Amino acid sequence: MFEIKKLFSEEQIARRVKELANQIEKDMDNEEFVLVANLKGSFIFFSDLIRSMERQDIEIDFVSTESYEGESSSGVIKMTRDLSLDIRDKKVILVEDIVDTGLTLSHLIHYIKEAHQPKEMRFCVLLDKPSKRKTDVKMDYVGFTVEDYFVIGYGLDYQEKFRNLPYIGFLTGEYKE
Ligand code: IMP
Repeated sequence: MFEIKKLFSEEQIARRVKELANQIEKDMDNEEFVLVANLKGSFIFFSDLIRSMERQDIEIDFVSTESYEGESSSGVIKMTRDLSLDIRDKKVILVEDIVDTGLTLSHLIHYIKEAHQPKEMRFCVLLDKPSKRKTDVKMDYVGFTVEDYFVIGYGLDYQEKFRNLPYIGFLTGEYKE
């Protein structure tokens, strides 16, 4: 049997997402920028974030990475989708669901800088889970900081399930498929 304990409600998330969107727009001033989501975990956060923005001229794109096996990072980052837009000399904001060890984000930063040469890159993450950090990654926008829970919902999964929960929580007890 398992239970889901709620960490952040829909209302708390919506308020924080709006604040992040406002802050990003303020910092970007009138400059053009491209928002890039790292799938799959960021898909709900990303769609709420972009719809919370006032500007209508932002461009969006997607990359996709995989590193997790169950509840732990395999440490090997597999890129399963690359950008389709040309972001050379553009300002880019990379949007991630959660930064745990930091390996995915640092791998992505390195890859995108080398392969696509943007003018500038910033990083926006919904959840920062610093307890198992293995690399020093700088995040410009952070939604919430979380303890060492394996969190689910609002896009985040456990074994590909629970992404559709409208809130963020964590599993207790034993979950069996
Ligand atoms: P990192 O490379 O260890 O920083 O892990 C980053 C990726 O692992 C994220 O993009 C998530 O997809 C996944 N991940 C890390 N922690 C969690 C969690 O608590 N719940 C769900 N996915 C997680």
